[in-house]
Amino acid sequence: MKTYLVTGGAGFIGSNFVLMQRQAGSARIVNLDLLTYAGNLLNLKSLEGDPEHIFVRGDIGDRKLVRDILEKYRPDAVINFAAESHVDRSIDGPEDFIQTNVVGTFHLLEEVRRYWSGLSDTQKGNFRFLHVSTDEVYGSLGPEDPAFCEETPYAPNSPYSASKAASDHLVRAYHHTYGIPTLITNCSNNYGPRQFPEKLIPLVILNAIEGKRLPIYGDGLNVRDWLYVEDHCEALQIVLERGKLGETYNIGGRCEKANLDLVKTICTLLDEMVPESPGCPHSTLITFVKDRPGHDRRYAIDCSKVERELGWRPRESLETGLRKTIQWYLDNPEWVESVKSGEYREWIARQYEEREERMV
Ligand code: NAD
Ligand code: TYD
Repeated sequence: MKTYLVTGGAGFIGSNFVLMQRQAGSARIVNLDLLTYAGNLLNLKSLEGDPEHIFVRGDIGDRKLVRDILEKYRPDAVINFAAESHVDRSIDGPEDFIQTNVVGTFHLLEEVRRYWSGLSDTQKGNFRFLHVSTDEVYGSLGPEDPAFCEETPYAPNSPYSASKAASDHLVRAYHHTYGIPTLITNCSNNYGPRQFPEKLIPLVILNAIEGKRLPIYGDGLNVRDWLYVEDHCEALQIVLERGKLGETYNIGGRCEKANLDLVKTICTLLDEMVPESPGCPHSTLITFVKDRPGHDRRYAIDCSKVERELGWRPRESLETGLRKTIQWYLDNPEWVESVKSGEYREWIARQYEEREERMV
């Protein structure tokens, strides 16, 4: 069985990836995660007692720790999910984003370079470093612009996307300069089980169930291209197995939606799935609030390369994916309570009370 070092595997996408790998029994997983506010061991609860899942709490920027892990477990691949990932937090305080996404990725790459250099030629050829990134590195599209393709020039607009762009460039350079067998994926907005409720979809689901207002930034016409998280994880596995070294693959759901339409769709599903909720009909909870500074207008991903060259296709439609997601949040009140810590309450208060004063 192969061994993967997964970083950030207690977060949203990383934990879904780890759970899918372990359910399939396809790889032993060494999971390195700092457990920031976004990391949650409850995400991995079903793996308790699984000897093929080894959890290590720590920082991707801790060179000694990363070196020890690489030497001890000798992974066949590193999949780098670890990051600060929320645009609004990057506007509030960009420093952690530079530290983890740029400096942390650099340290991780340096230790991978050291480890990889000591492998045999065959092992070197088989090794993979997969860097999980975002479509936000490409900037913002106008309504008629073609979707982002792999050749679209980088034009990141937020501290988050700028830090991810910097890490992508480092990964590319480590392939070009040192020959490390890297792969980069740039994916559109994910949704699904275990997403921290600072992001739009889980925030709306949980607020709506509690009869709280559903904050829409600006005019609600910003467009995102949504992908169910398990479809993303399948794409990552395929890229890992069959991707061409040094290449980038765009991954997306071909599912562009304006925020307001998306939130209305969630409200309609909630009306049907939770008719006894105090917020019913849920669309009455929609509230327009002050916009995010520098808010990118539209993202859209052209994923024809990964479809054509690697044969990947998403399985879920927006409706089936949203139904699964809503059902998961309804079925997991213990998880929901665990993430609503003091830190989360403070964040929501700081973000939305400030915004409420300037409601449009
Ligand atoms: P997340 O915030 O839910 O999880 C990030 C995880 O990384 C957390 O478990 C956190 O504890 C861990 N972490 C943070 N700093 C760390 C450090 N210094 N060392 C070790 N672990 C650390 O994020 P996510 O939504 O799961 O995103 C995962 C990756 O996918 C990120 O790199 C993100 O840029 C990328 N991505 C996310 C989306 C999306 O829609 N969520 C879309 C495309 C790409
Ligand atoms: P988000 O989930 O933060 O992802 P990203 O900014 O990385 O795309 O936000 C998705 C979209 O929803 C984005 O256009 C901002 C908007 N949004 C709101 O309108 N209200 C909210 O409370 C949040 C969190 C986001």
